[in-house]
Amino acid sequence: MQDEIRNIKKSFEEEIVNANDAGSLESVRIKYLGRKGLIAALMARLPGLPKEEKPAAGKEINLLKTGIQRALTKKKEEYKHTPARGELRADVTMPGTWPDAGRAHPITKILNEINDIFISLGFSVAQGPEIESEFYNFEALNIPLEHPSRDAFDTFYIKDDILLRSHTSTVQIRIMEKQKPPIQAIMPGRVYRPDAVDASHSFMFHQVEGLMVDKKIKFSDLKGLLSLFTKRMFGEKTKTRFRPSFFPFTEPSAEVDISCIICSGKGCRVCSHTGWLEILGAGMVHPRVFEAVGYPPRKYTGLAFGMGAERIAMLKYGINDIRLFFENDIRFLKQF
Ligand code: DAH
Repeated sequence: MQDEIRNIKKSFEEEIVNANDAGSLESVRIKYLGRKGLIAALMARLPGLPKEEKPAAGKEINLLKTGIQRALTKKKEEYKHTPARGELRADVTMPGTWPDAGRAHPITKILNEINDIFISLGFSVAQGPEIESEFYNFEALNIPLEHPSRDAFDTFYIKDDILLRSHTSTVQIRIMEKQKPPIQAIMPGRVYRPDAVDASHSFMFHQVEGLMVDKKIKFSDLKGLLSLFTKRMFGEKTKTRFRPSFFPFTEPSAEVDISCIICSGKGCRVCSHTGWLEILGAGMVHPRVFEAVGYPPRKYTGLAFGMGAERIAMLKYGINDIRLFFENDIRFLKQF
């Protein structure tokens, strides 16, 4: 028995060295470990051995068996990395791995869309700093220090006079300081407010400001322009409604609503059963604003408007939580 075990071990060691492809490796396995293999044959003979030899023989057969198993697994592992001669190294008919393409963030997409609409109407695109002084964020926009309307545009202060802008209306002032009318520009950018974060509030969001100044700009121009914008943005059937409102930097001022894009004005949960959705603030530029930038009195009139990009994106894409835009969850971002 002892000799036999030794011989089997020896012949296995020779054969495994020569088993150089998956097929011959499998034949070796069957020959030794198969149900009718050499190990099984040895085992079958155990009961016939004299009693005192049984334990030692059993132990040796088992050792041989586990040794063979281990050697076979090891060789198989090596095979995974080295294909046999004649076997294809790569299956050229297999579909390749497609590189994951990056894409624009939904807010960038909406900003681009808004820009494109206004560019097609002859507007240029301007930008201004996010770190501003009180003058641009408040005073020049006719929001005096002690005026209660300043609360609505409250923001983060960096130093006494230096703050993060709370609206993009600041850029109106910067453009008018530099340039004489005619002016026709939109101004997209980030704004900051010390709001508690919830489904509809964020301490940072994006606005697009609009400004048109010339000698005879009228309120009807504002209505026509914004009605056209909402139709391009939300579809030809969209109706626009102007509600009287108040902003310190415009007179008269209006809040602009569109007919609900979910229920087309019939009334649903999204529009709080009013049939309308508020999308922006607008008005005719206040004479005090022209005064602040040094334009001669009564020479020009202008229209202005400001909208929140997140709000427009949420309405357009049916998103119910503003936080989704800023969490960087790839499952959300992939959908746009
Ligand atoms: N700045 C305003 C806000 O942040 C929005 C706004 C309203 C801008 C009326 C305008 C305007 O230019 O005319 O709420």
